[in-house]
Amino acid sequence: MKESVSPPTDWLALERQYDSGIYNKRDITLVRGEGARVWDSDGVEYLDCTSAYGVANLGHCHPAVVKAIQEQAGQLISVSQSFGNNRRAQFYAALRSVLPDSLSRFFPVNSGAEAIEAALKFARVATGRKKWVAAMRGFSGRTMGALSVTWEKAYREPFAPLVEPVQFIPYNDVDALVHAVDSETAAVILEPIQGEGGVRPTTVEFLSAARKQTQQQGALLILDEIQTGFGRTGKLFAMEHFGITPDIVTLAKAVGGGVPLGVTTMTPAVADAIPKGAHGSTFGGNPLAMAAGFAVIQTLKEERLSERADFMGESWMEQVRSWELPRVREVRGRGLMIGIELKEKAAPFIQRLQHEHRVITIPAGPNVIRLLPPLVIEMSEWARAAQALREVLS
Ligand SMILES: Cc1ncc(COP(=O)(O)O)c(C=O)c1O
Repeated sequence: MKESVSPPTDWLALERQYDSGIYNKRDITLVRGEGARVWDSDGVEYLDCTSAYGVANLGHCHPAVVKAIQEQAGQLISVSQSFGNNRRAQFYAALRSVLPDSLSRFFPVNSGAEAIEAALKFARVATGRKKWVAAMRGFSGRTMGALSVTWEKAYREPFAPLVEPVQFIPYNDVDALVHAVDSETAAVILEPIQGEGGVRPTTVEFLSAARKQTQQQGALLILDEIQTGFGRTGKLFAMEHFGITPDIVTLAKAVGGGVPLGVTTMTPAVADAIPKGAHGSTFGGNPLAMAAGFAVIQTLKEERLSERADFMGESWMEQVRSWELPRVREVRGRGLMIGIELKEKAAPFIQRLQHEHRVITIPAGPNVIRLLPPLVIEMSEWARAAQALREVLS
Protein backbone atom coordinates (compact mmCIF):
# COMPACT_ATOMS: atom_id res chain seq x y z
CA MET A 1 0.00 0.00 0.00
CA LYS A 2 1.23 3.46 -0.87
CA GLU A 3 2.08 5.64 2.11
CA SER A 4 -0.13 8.71 2.17
CA VAL A 5 1.82 11.93 2.38
CA SER A 6 -0.12 14.98 3.45
CA PRO A 7 0.92 18.15 1.64
CA PRO A 8 2.52 20.87 3.78
CA THR A 9 -0.16 23.16 5.14
CA ASP A 10 0.13 26.95 5.06
CA TRP A 11 -1.29 27.35 8.55
CA LEU A 12 -0.92 31.10 8.55
CA ALA A 13 -2.91 31.50 5.32
CA LEU A 14 -5.62 29.17 6.63
CA GLU A 15 -5.82 31.06 9.92
CA ARG A 16 -5.87 34.45 8.21
CA GLN A 17 -8.72 33.35 5.97
CA TYR A 18 -11.08 33.15 8.96
CA ASP A 19 -9.44 35.31 11.61
CA SER A 20 -11.13 38.57 12.63
CA GLY A 21 -7.91 40.32 11.69
CA ILE A 22 -8.02 42.39 14.87
CA TYR A 23 -4.58 41.25 16.00
CA ASN A 24 -1.57 42.43 14.08
CA LYS A 25 -0.31 38.88 13.56
CA ARG A 26 3.41 38.06 13.37
CA ASP A 27 4.40 35.95 10.36
CA ILE A 28 5.17 32.59 12.00
CA THR A 29 2.96 29.76 13.27
CA LEU A 30 4.17 28.44 16.61
CA VAL A 31 3.40 24.80 17.26
CA ARG A 32 5.58 23.56 20.11
CA GLY A 33 7.37 24.88 23.19
CA GLU A 34 9.78 23.73 25.86
CA GLY A 35 11.31 25.95 28.53
CA ALA A 36 12.19 29.28 26.93
CA ARG A 37 12.15 27.89 23.39
CA VAL A 38 9.35 27.60 20.85
CA TRP A 39 9.29 26.06 17.38
CA ASP A 40 7.37 27.09 14.29
CA SER A 41 5.57 24.81 11.86
CA ASP A 42 8.74 24.52 9.74
CA GLY A 43 10.72 23.32 12.76
CA VAL A 44 12.61 26.60 13.21
CA GLU A 45 13.55 27.29 16.84
CA TYR A 46 13.00 30.68 18.52
CA LEU A 47 13.96 32.03 21.92
CA ASP A 48 10.75 33.28 23.51
CA CYS A 49 11.53 36.43 25.49
CA THR A 50 7.81 37.18 25.95
CA SER A 51 6.51 34.07 27.81
CA ALA A 52 3.41 34.47 25.59
CA TYR A 53 2.71 37.91 27.09
CA GLY A 54 3.87 37.06 30.58
CA VAL A 55 2.07 33.73 30.93
CA ALA A 56 4.80 31.07 30.72
CA ASN A 57 6.82 32.11 33.80
CA LEU A 58 7.60 28.42 34.42
CA GLY A 59 8.57 27.98 30.77
CA HIS A 60 6.53 26.31 28.08
CA CYS A 61 5.08 22.91 28.98
CA HIS A 62 6.69 22.64 32.42
CA PRO A 63 6.44 18.91 33.32
CA ALA A 64 4.70 19.65 36.64
CA VAL A 65 1.95 21.64 34.89
CA VAL A 66 1.60 19.10 32.07
CA LYS A 67 1.26 16.27 34.59
CA ALA A 68 -1.30 18.16 36.67
CA ILE A 69 -3.43 18.94 33.62
CA GLN A 70 -3.19 15.42 32.24
CA GLU A 71 -4.17 13.82 35.53
CA GLN A 72 -7.02 16.24 36.16
CA ALA A 73 -8.34 15.90 32.59
CA GLY A 74 -9.00 12.23 33.28
CA GLN A 75 -10.68 12.95 36.62
CA LEU A 76 -13.03 15.93 36.31
CA ILE A 77 -12.81 18.99 34.04
CA SER A 78 -15.96 20.95 34.85
CA VAL A 79 -17.66 21.73 38.10
CA SER A 80 -19.34 25.03 38.85
CA GLN A 81 -18.67 27.20 41.86
CA SER A 82 -22.07 26.19 43.20
CA PHE A 83 -20.30 23.01 44.30
CA GLY A 84 -17.11 22.39 46.19
CA ASN A 85 -14.09 20.86 44.46
CA ASN A 86 -10.95 19.30 45.91
CA ARG A 87 -8.62 21.02 43.41
CA ARG A 88 -10.16 24.42 44.10
CA ALA A 89 -9.74 23.98 47.85
CA GLN A 90 -6.14 22.88 47.32
CA PHE A 91 -5.39 25.83 45.02
CA TYR A 92 -6.93 28.31 47.49
CA ALA A 93 -4.79 26.96 50.33
CA ALA A 94 -1.65 27.21 48.19
CA LEU A 95 -2.48 30.76 47.06
CA ARG A 96 -3.16 31.75 50.65
CA SER A 97 0.31 30.52 51.63
CA VAL A 98 2.06 32.93 49.24
CA LEU A 99 -0.06 36.07 49.72
CA PRO A 100 -0.05 38.58 52.60
CA ASP A 101 -2.22 37.38 55.50
CA SER A 102 -4.98 39.93 54.91
CA LEU A 103 -5.62 38.84 51.30
CA SER A 104 -7.37 35.65 52.26
CA ARG A 105 -10.52 35.52 50.08
CA PHE A 106 -10.58 34.62 46.39
CA PHE A 107 -12.86 34.87 43.38
CA PRO A 108 -11.55 32.74 40.47
CA VAL A 109 -12.15 33.80 36.86
CA ASN A 110 -10.57 33.05 33.48
CA SER A 111 -8.53 36.09 32.41
CA GLY A 112 -6.97 39.33 33.53
CA ALA A 113 -9.78 41.56 32.31
CA GLU A 114 -12.30 39.44 34.21
CA ALA A 115 -10.24 39.70 37.39
CA ILE A 116 -10.30 43.50 36.94
CA GLU A 117 -14.04 43.57 36.22
CA ALA A 118 -14.68 41.68 39.44
CA ALA A 119 -12.34 44.00 41.38
CA LEU A 120 -14.13 47.13 40.10
CA LYS A 121 -17.56 45.71 40.86
CA PHE A 122 -16.49 44.56 44.31
CA ALA A 123 -15.00 47.98 45.10
CA ARG A 124 -18.25 49.70 44.17
CA VAL A 125 -20.45 47.39 46.15
CA ALA A 126 -18.13 47.31 49.19
CA THR A 127 -17.82 51.10 49.41
CA GLY A 128 -21.20 52.18 48.00
CA ARG A 129 -19.24 54.70 45.91
CA LYS A 130 -18.77 55.14 42.16
CA LYS A 131 -15.53 56.95 41.32
CA TRP A 132 -12.32 55.19 40.33
CA VAL A 133 -8.87 56.76 40.24
CA ALA A 134 -6.40 55.25 37.75
CA ALA A 135 -2.98 56.15 36.38
CA MET A 136 -1.92 57.66 33.09
CA ARG A 137 -0.27 54.97 30.93
CA GLY A 138 -2.01 52.30 33.03
CA PHE A 139 -3.38 49.18 31.34
CA SER A 140 -6.10 46.98 32.82
CA GLY A 141 -7.61 45.06 29.90
CA ARG A 142 -10.12 45.31 27.07
CA THR A 143 -13.57 44.64 28.54
CA MET A 144 -15.73 47.72 29.15
CA GLY A 145 -14.92 48.13 32.85
CA ALA A 146 -11.24 47.27 32.53
CA LEU A 147 -11.00 49.57 29.50
CA SER A 148 -12.57 52.39 31.50
CA VAL A 149 -9.55 52.43 33.83
CA THR A 150 -7.06 51.94 30.96
CA TRP A 151 -5.29 55.10 29.80
CA GLU A 152 -4.43 54.60 26.11
CA LYS A 153 -6.88 56.63 23.99
CA ALA A 154 -6.53 54.38 20.92
CA TYR A 155 -7.91 51.48 22.98
CA ARG A 156 -10.65 53.51 24.65
CA GLU A 157 -12.09 55.99 22.20
CA PRO A 158 -13.67 53.63 19.64
CA PHE A 159 -15.78 52.17 22.43
CA ALA A 160 -16.95 55.29 24.28
CA PRO A 161 -18.99 55.88 26.34
CA LEU A 162 -17.26 53.70 28.91
CA VAL A 163 -17.97 53.23 32.62
CA GLU A 164 -17.63 56.49 34.55
CA PRO A 165 -16.47 58.41 36.50
CA VAL A 166 -12.72 57.68 36.26
CA GLN A 167 -10.01 60.22 37.06
CA PHE A 168 -6.56 59.61 35.57
CA ILE A 169 -3.55 60.97 37.42
CA PRO A 170 0.14 61.04 36.44
CA TYR A 171 1.86 57.85 37.65
CA ASN A 172 4.16 58.50 40.62
CA ASP A 173 2.68 61.99 41.28
CA VAL A 174 1.89 61.95 45.01
CA ASP A 175 0.19 65.38 45.07
CA ALA A 176 -2.11 64.51 42.19
CA LEU A 177 -3.05 61.28 43.94
CA VAL A 178 -3.77 62.96 47.27
CA HIS A 179 -6.01 65.51 45.51
CA ALA A 180 -7.83 62.93 43.41
CA VAL A 181 -8.78 60.50 46.19
CA ASP A 182 -11.72 61.87 48.16
CA SER A 183 -14.88 60.78 49.93
CA GLU A 184 -16.49 59.86 46.57
CA THR A 185 -13.70 57.46 45.56
CA ALA A 186 -14.51 53.76 45.51
CA ALA A 187 -10.99 52.65 44.62
CA VAL A 188 -7.59 53.57 43.28
CA ILE A 189 -6.29 51.02 40.77
CA LEU A 190 -2.58 50.80 39.97
CA GLU A 191 -0.01 48.44 38.49
CA PRO A 192 3.09 48.24 40.75
CA ILE A 193 5.15 48.28 37.56
CA GLN A 194 3.33 49.47 34.45
CA GLY A 195 3.75 46.82 31.75
CA GLU A 196 1.96 47.84 28.57
CA GLY A 197 2.62 51.51 29.43
CA GLY A 198 6.38 51.07 28.93
CA VAL A 199 7.73 48.96 31.84
CA ARG A 200 7.68 51.80 34.37
CA PRO A 201 8.23 50.97 38.03
CA THR A 202 6.34 52.95 40.64
CA THR A 203 8.00 54.57 43.65
CA VAL A 204 7.67 53.54 47.28
CA GLU A 205 6.46 57.08 48.06
CA PHE A 206 3.65 56.88 45.51
CA LEU A 207 2.36 53.48 46.57
CA SER A 208 2.64 54.37 50.26
CA ALA A 209 0.69 57.57 49.61
CA ALA A 210 -1.94 55.56 47.71
CA ARG A 211 -2.27 53.20 50.67
CA LYS A 212 -2.49 56.00 53.22
CA GLN A 213 -4.85 58.26 51.27
CA THR A 214 -7.29 55.45 50.40
CA GLN A 215 -7.39 54.40 54.06
CA GLN A 216 -8.00 57.97 55.21
CA GLN A 217 -10.80 58.49 52.69
CA GLY A 218 -12.51 55.13 53.17
CA ALA A 219 -11.62 54.07 49.61
CA LEU A 220 -10.02 50.78 48.50
CA LEU A 221 -6.63 50.21 46.93
CA ILE A 222 -6.56 47.71 44.04
CA LEU A 223 -3.17 46.50 42.84
CA ASP A 224 -3.06 44.89 39.43
CA GLU A 225 -0.42 42.13 39.62
CA ILE A 226 -1.63 40.42 36.46
CA GLN A 227 1.71 40.96 34.72
CA THR A 228 3.98 41.50 37.72
CA GLY A 229 2.87 38.53 39.82
CA PHE A 230 4.24 35.02 40.26
CA GLY A 231 7.94 35.73 40.43
CA ARG A 232 8.22 37.99 37.39
CA THR A 233 9.83 40.98 39.16
CA GLY A 234 12.16 39.07 41.50
CA LYS A 235 9.60 38.66 44.30
CA LEU A 236 6.56 36.41 44.21
CA PHE A 237 4.46 39.59 44.00
CA ALA A 238 5.73 43.05 43.12
CA MET A 239 3.91 44.59 46.11
CA GLU A 240 6.61 42.94 48.28
CA HIS A 241 9.15 45.44 46.89
CA PHE A 242 7.07 48.28 48.28
CA GLY A 243 5.98 46.95 51.66
CA ILE A 244 2.29 47.76 51.30
CA THR A 245 -0.78 45.53 51.31
CA PRO A 246 -3.78 46.60 49.24
CA ASP A 247 -7.45 45.64 49.75
CA ILE A 248 -7.73 43.83 46.42
CA VAL A 249 -5.06 42.24 44.19
CA THR A 250 -5.84 41.01 40.70
CA LEU A 251 -3.94 38.00 39.32
CA ALA A 252 -3.94 36.24 35.94
CA LYS A 253 -1.43 35.38 33.17
CA ALA A 254 1.23 33.19 34.87
CA VAL A 255 -1.04 31.83 37.62
CA GLY A 256 -2.46 29.07 35.39
CA GLY A 257 0.82 28.01 33.80
CA GLY A 258 -0.83 28.54 30.40
CA VAL A 259 -4.34 27.42 31.28
CA PRO A 260 -6.70 30.44 31.31
CA LEU A 261 -7.04 31.50 34.95
CA GLY A 262 -7.47 34.77 36.81
CA VAL A 263 -8.15 35.45 40.47
CA THR A 264 -9.49 38.50 42.28
CA THR A 265 -8.02 38.29 45.78
CA MET A 266 -9.39 40.46 48.58
CA THR A 267 -9.57 41.05 52.29
CA PRO A 268 -12.41 39.46 54.32
CA ALA A 269 -13.83 42.98 54.81
CA VAL A 270 -14.31 43.35 51.04
CA ALA A 271 -15.57 39.79 50.54
CA ASP A 272 -18.09 40.07 53.35
CA ALA A 273 -19.55 43.26 51.83
CA ILE A 274 -20.45 41.55 48.52
CA PRO A 275 -24.03 40.24 48.49
CA LYS A 276 -24.50 36.55 47.67
CA GLY A 277 -25.09 36.05 43.96
CA ALA A 278 -23.76 39.52 43.07
CA HIS A 279 -21.19 38.13 40.65
CA GLY A 280 -20.49 34.86 38.84
CA SER A 281 -18.44 32.97 36.27
CA THR A 282 -19.35 29.65 34.62
CA PHE A 283 -15.77 28.54 34.00
CA GLY A 284 -14.21 30.33 36.99
CA GLY A 285 -12.56 27.90 39.40
CA ASN A 286 -12.82 24.91 37.05
CA PRO A 287 -10.77 21.91 38.25
CA LEU A 288 -8.42 21.90 35.25
CA ALA A 289 -7.30 25.49 35.87
CA MET A 290 -7.18 24.90 39.61
CA ALA A 291 -4.93 21.85 39.19
CA ALA A 292 -2.63 23.83 36.91
CA GLY A 293 -2.58 26.80 39.32
CA PHE A 294 -1.70 24.56 42.24
CA ALA A 295 1.20 23.04 40.27
CA VAL A 296 2.40 26.54 39.32
CA ILE A 297 2.56 27.75 42.93
CA GLN A 298 4.30 24.57 44.12
CA THR A 299 6.87 24.78 41.32
CA LEU A 300 7.56 28.48 41.79
CA LYS A 301 8.36 27.79 45.44
CA GLU A 302 10.36 24.60 44.83
CA GLU A 303 12.47 26.03 42.02
CA ARG A 304 12.89 29.41 43.77
CA LEU A 305 12.09 31.13 40.52
CA SER A 306 11.54 34.63 41.91
CA GLU A 307 15.10 34.66 43.31
CA ARG A 308 16.31 33.47 39.94
CA ALA A 309 14.40 36.29 38.18
CA ASP A 310 15.94 38.82 40.54
CA PHE A 311 19.48 37.69 39.95
CA MET A 312 19.18 37.07 36.20
CA GLY A 313 17.38 40.35 35.54
CA GLU A 314 19.60 42.71 37.49
CA SER A 315 22.92 41.38 36.17
CA TRP A 316 21.60 41.31 32.59
CA MET A 317 20.35 44.91 32.75
CA GLU A 318 23.69 46.02 34.16
CA GLN A 319 25.51 44.39 31.29
CA VAL A 320 23.25 45.88 28.60
CA ARG A 321 23.57 49.34 30.20
CA SER A 322 27.36 49.02 30.24
CA TRP A 323 27.39 48.72 26.43
CA GLU A 324 25.99 52.27 26.14
CA LEU A 325 24.21 51.39 22.92
CA PRO A 326 23.65 54.52 20.84
CA ARG A 327 19.97 53.88 20.12
CA VAL A 328 19.05 53.17 23.76
CA ARG A 329 17.65 55.88 26.03
CA GLU A 330 17.12 53.72 29.12
CA VAL A 331 17.21 50.10 30.29
CA ARG A 332 14.75 49.66 33.16
CA GLY A 333 12.61 47.13 34.98
CA ARG A 334 12.73 44.69 37.82
CA GLY A 335 13.64 41.02 37.81
CA LEU A 336 12.75 39.57 34.43
CA MET A 337 10.31 42.35 33.50
CA ILE A 338 12.51 44.55 31.39
CA GLY A 339 11.97 47.52 29.09
CA ILE A 340 14.55 48.92 26.70
CA GLU A 341 13.47 52.40 25.76
CA LEU A 342 14.84 53.52 22.42
CA LYS A 343 15.30 56.98 20.99
CA GLU A 344 13.26 55.80 17.99
CA LYS A 345 10.42 53.38 17.17
CA ALA A 346 10.86 49.87 18.59
CA ALA A 347 8.90 47.88 15.94
CA PRO A 348 11.67 47.57 13.29
CA PHE A 349 14.10 46.25 15.91
CA ILE A 350 11.56 43.76 17.26
CA GLN A 351 11.16 42.50 13.67
CA ARG A 352 14.91 42.22 13.19
CA LEU A 353 15.34 40.35 16.48
CA GLN A 354 12.78 37.81 15.27
CA HIS A 355 13.96 37.48 11.67
CA GLU A 356 17.72 37.78 12.02
CA HIS A 357 18.28 36.34 15.51
CA ARG A 358 15.18 34.18 16.18
CA VAL A 359 14.57 36.06 19.41
CA ILE A 360 10.94 37.00 20.10
CA THR A 361 10.22 40.21 22.02
CA ILE A 362 7.19 42.51 22.30
CA PRO A 363 6.67 46.27 22.39
CA ALA A 364 5.47 48.27 25.39
CA GLY A 365 4.30 51.52 23.81
CA PRO A 366 5.92 52.85 20.61
CA ASN A 367 9.55 53.12 21.75
CA VAL A 368 10.07 50.29 24.22
CA ILE A 369 11.24 46.73 23.54
CA ARG A 370 9.76 44.60 26.34
CA LEU A 371 11.35 41.37 27.55
CA LEU A 372 9.39 38.96 29.75
CA PRO A 373 11.36 35.71 29.34
CA PRO A 374 10.34 32.54 31.17
CA LEU A 375 11.93 32.59 34.63
CA VAL A 376 13.57 29.25 33.79
CA ILE A 377 15.51 30.71 30.85
CA GLU A 378 19.03 29.31 30.82
CA MET A 379 22.06 31.54 31.28
CA SER A 380 23.30 30.81 27.75
CA GLU A 381 19.89 31.59 26.25
CA TRP A 382 19.64 34.84 28.19
CA ALA A 383 23.14 35.83 27.07
CA ARG A 384 22.08 35.09 23.50
CA ALA A 385 19.16 37.52 23.86
CA ALA A 386 21.56 40.22 25.09
CA GLN A 387 23.96 39.66 22.18
CA ALA A 388 21.10 39.80 19.68
CA LEU A 389 19.97 43.12 21.14
CA ARG A 390 23.51 44.42 21.06
CA GLU A 391 23.81 43.59 17.37
CA VAL A 392 20.51 45.09 16.25
CA LEU A 393 20.85 48.22 18.42
CA SER A 394 24.51 49.01 17.70
C1 LIG B 1 -1.45 44.70 34.00
C2 LIG B 1 -2.50 44.02 33.17
N1 LIG B 1 -3.77 44.02 33.59
C3 LIG B 1 -4.74 43.40 32.89
C4 LIG B 1 -4.47 42.75 31.71
C5 LIG B 1 -5.57 42.06 30.95
O1 LIG B 1 -5.39 40.68 30.97
P1 LIG B 1 -6.11 39.72 29.89
O2 LIG B 1 -5.47 39.99 28.57
O3 LIG B 1 -5.88 38.34 30.40
O4 LIG B 1 -7.56 40.09 29.89
C6 LIG B 1 -3.16 42.74 31.23
C7 LIG B 1 -2.83 42.08 29.95
O5 LIG B 1 -1.85 42.33 29.32
C8 LIG B 1 -2.14 43.39 31.97
O6 LIG B 1 -0.87 43.40 31.57
